[in-house]
Amino acid sequence: MQVQLKVNGQAVSADVPPNTLLVQLLREHLQMTGTHVGCDTAQCGACTVIANGRSIKSCNVLAAQMQGAEVTTIEGVASPDGTMHPVQAAFKDCHGLQCGFCTPGMVMSSIDLLKHHPQASEAEIRELLEGNLCRCTGYQNIVKAVQQAQATLQA
Ligand code: FES
Ligand code: FES
Repeated sequence: MQVQLKVNGQAVSADVPPNTLLVQLLREHLQMTGTHVGCDTAQCGACTVIANGRSIKSCNVLAAQMQGAEVTTIEGVASPDGTMHPVQAAFKDCHGLQCGFCTPGMVMSSIDLLKHHPQASEAEIRELLEGNLCRCTGYQNIVKAVQQAQATLQA
């Protein structure tokens, strides 16, 4: 079936089997491999993207459900000149990653978190990131990064 949507502001169209997941559309058909697959069962959050203004796990929705949607992936969050999004910069500054596998999903979830909960406390940040798993960092520096980005975005 033909799926038409916008990804990072660009209109895209792909001919995919009806059971294609959004993450497969992104990675296998559009070659946008920044969105990772950690579990395929909607538990780890590595596949998080923003669709129509809300973060979603792209392994948990069909590409067909995204007909006409506006999707933002990790490839689309930096400025066109390459300047990192404040959340990306904060993850870098605060060492909010080690192997980096969870990072695209963490960044996308954090962008969504700070958009919808700009005043989130540390406890709320921890709770709102519950759907994203990291095997490396112990989460402390991830939370610090979100707090730094929060301060930057409010400045
Ligand atoms: Fe989607 Fe783990 S790959 S939640
Ligand atoms: Fe390795 Fe999070 S940095 S899984």
